[in-house]
Amino acid sequence: MNPTIRHRAGRVVLTFGVAAGAWAVAASAPMAETAQPTGLAAAGNAHAIVLAQATPPAPATPPAPEATGFAALVAAGDVAAGQAASLQCAGCHSFGEGEPARFGPNLFGIVDHPVAASAGFNYSPGMAAAGAAGGIWTIDYLNAFLESPQAAIPGTTMPFGGIADEATRANLIAYLATLTPGGAPAADAPAGTPVTFTQAQVDRGERRYTRDCEECHGASLNGGLIGGPPLRGNVFEGKYLNGAPASALFLFTSTAMPPDNPGGYQASIYADLVAYILTHNGFTAGTEELPDDVAALGALVMTPTP
Ligand code: HEC
Ligand code: HEC
Repeated sequence: MNPTIRHRAGRVVLTFGVAAGAWAVAASAPMAETAQPTGLAAAGNAHAIVLAQATPPAPATPPAPEATGFAALVAAGDVAAGQAASLQCAGCHSFGEGEPARFGPNLFGIVDHPVAASAGFNYSPGMAAAGAAGGIWTIDYLNAFLESPQAAIPGTTMPFGGIADEATRANLIAYLATLTPGGAPAADAPAGTPVTFTQAQVDRGERRYTRDCEECHGASLNGGLIGGPPLRGNVFEGKYLNGAPASALFLFTSTAMPPDNPGGYQASIYADLVAYILTHNGFTAGTEELPDDVAALGALVMTPTP
């Protein structure tokens, strides 16, 4: 993880205590009535226990069930900060109920959901095996996976390096736990700034593309002889350009491409390549450079001009 993300994570932590209380109230009130066995209910209960320990014990307080330190962090997590952190995922994952998969599967209801069970999604053999073995996305399993996807599920094709900061993971999972049919309505994602890049980046990106990418993806990005998919058109747009943050396309390209040397270039070269790809998808160069760090790219949205 690069320092910019850490810095961003640090700012997330600063807001930790503030919204956490508000969320706990919102989350636990309806839960007491419905007592649904969802991740949110579990998180609400765990939070109630934390409160019970911190205040003089009420006579009828039931004994505390086993709650790991991390589950308590999630129960007290800052949902708004978690939603902001989910921008790192939003290029590849949709979060709303019934929304189609993007590059990765839809994540509505993912907490306590079986692993690799999103209908119609073509999982890697590694993740499919974790699902076939009866894996469930518990809070702790999600925590391990989001810290290091490859370590938690060897062979996963999720091209994401992981989130080192524990509080950020807790906030993110607290947000994921709200994505249930009875859960808190997802607030609108923070509006991003439209993506920008310069003509100089496009020119450098074009030279690199012609040298290293064209044989697989085609001279006009329509797909090539060796089986690289088109980098324009409906399928590509649906994955990356429907208001997704620019970090998604950058992350995929800079971790998986070119296949014989994945991640082998400097970050600035991947930014050049993303700029070049965007010019083939209806975007035009401007005066601001496309940044080459993931946190800054996460704040830029890619919505094609009609
Ligand atoms: C660049 C694309 C990309 C990014 C960014 C990304 N994911 Fe994924 N994710 C995937 C893909 C692809 C898979 C399926 C992996 C496989 O089959 O091995 C996946 C799978 C998952 C799964 C398993 C879902 C299931 O149905 O079992 C979870 C949970 C998940 N991602 C959460 C996240 C979260 C949370 C983030 C943000 C912190 C994130 N991902 C970021 C692409 C991405
Ligand atoms: C040897 C052939 C090959 C070369 C060279 C290659 N790619 Fe790819 N590329 C692929 C294949 C195959 C996929 C699909 C992989 C997948 O979905 O996991 C892909 C996927 C992609 C995607 C994601 C497309 C999508 O629909 O999700 C992007 C973006 C991309 N490549 C960019 C590049 C860039 C930029 C270069 C040059 C630095 C490059 N590729 C070089 C074969 C290649």
